[in-house]
Amino acid sequence: MNAIEVEGISKHYGSLRAVDGVSLSIESGTIFGLLGPNGAGKTTLIAMLVTMRRPTSGSARVNGFDITKQADSVRKSIGIVFQDPSLDDELTARENLELHAAMYAVPKQVRHGRIEEVIKLVGLEKHLKQQVKTFSGGMKRRLEIARGLVHHPKILFLDEPTIGLDPQTRAGIWDYIKKLNEKEGITIILTTHYMDEADSTCQRVGIIDSGKIIALDTPENLKNTLGGDVISIKCGGTDQCVNEISQLKWVKGAVKHGGFVDVRVEKGEEKIPKILRLMEQHGIPVESVSLHKPSLDDVFLHYTGKTIREDEAGPRDAMRLRRRAWGHRK
Ligand SMILES: Nc1ncnc2c1ncn2[C@@H]1O[C@H](COP(=O)(O)OP(=O)(O)OP(=O)(O)O)[C@@H](O)[C@H]1O
Ligand SMILES: [Mg+2]
Repeated sequence: MNAIEVEGISKHYGSLRAVDGVSLSIESGTIFGLLGPNGAGKTTLIAMLVTMRRPTSGSARVNGFDITKQADSVRKSIGIVFQDPSLDDELTARENLELHAAMYAVPKQVRHGRIEEVIKLVGLEKHLKQQVKTFSGGMKRRLEIARGLVHHPKILFLDEPTIGLDPQTRAGIWDYIKKLNEKEGITIILTTHYMDEADSTCQRVGIIDSGKIIALDTPENLKNTLGGDVISIKCGGTDQCVNEISQLKWVKGAVKHGGFVDVRVEKGEEKIPKILRLMEQHGIPVESVSLHKPSLDDVFLHYTGKTIREDEAGPRDAMRLRRRAWGHRK
């Protein structure tokens, strides 16, 4: 059975097509990752699926319920972890969870048990009585995940669950997400900017750009369709470098990003000397060369012509993190 069925869904803001005719299905019990640059339409797509925004056109079913005609049933069957932090800092962890349980009409007699259960899943059982404002960023994120689970949803939506956290905390959160999926069988739908983490966590990913899904498959298949090796060249004059390299008949593709040119070839180790000779002939200075198998980053670059590096996470995120650091209440 499919947890999600989306058919030609769009959301327009004036002339902007934030989501533009997206169709996709997500199988129950899987982890699905939605990847895309800032402003691609990830949050808008998720907001429609969780019934917080009405589509301009198209339709979707979540757990078999129609998102416009059966919004209440959709809401009861899903959990959400928003991109922006949404805990009440003044309350304790337990109070935050109780508030949520009450909002979702979890019966009083089972609330206590549920809270104990979800807090253990994210390893925060020792901090239940602590005010949330004393929590680290990672602890808050884990508590938000726990909160999204209190009413036993079949699907959990996570919009950028690890943005702005340090690598170790991010790894911990991904472990919790995988555990939830494996042990509890919860379908997970997430968005992320971290390609390698999406690669190791998601069974399927969709790449979204300018409101459209441009690639949809397992990370393995997406990487395999690129094939071969990627030679990454740091050089001066990237435009000229791309022009010259593109003319070689054994080059499958060459794209520039930042001060780099990424070249896709078969048997990369044999091609490096040839490329270096070509650069020398044309007087293009080369600073460094490296060779790797295609990653999801390369897939992303191939389909969108852009990279999705952490430092490109965008000014909105930077602002959010600063606000968080200064302890602003939303
Ligand atoms: N309420 C709104 N009114 C007008 N435009 C909006 C609104 N919400 C989103 N947009 C625009 O729709 C586009 C998609 O935004 P969305 O937040 O879905 O992107 P995103 O992929 O989640 O980006 P990010 O990675 O930064 O979170 C952007 O151009 C954004 O400016
Ligand atoms: Mg977003």
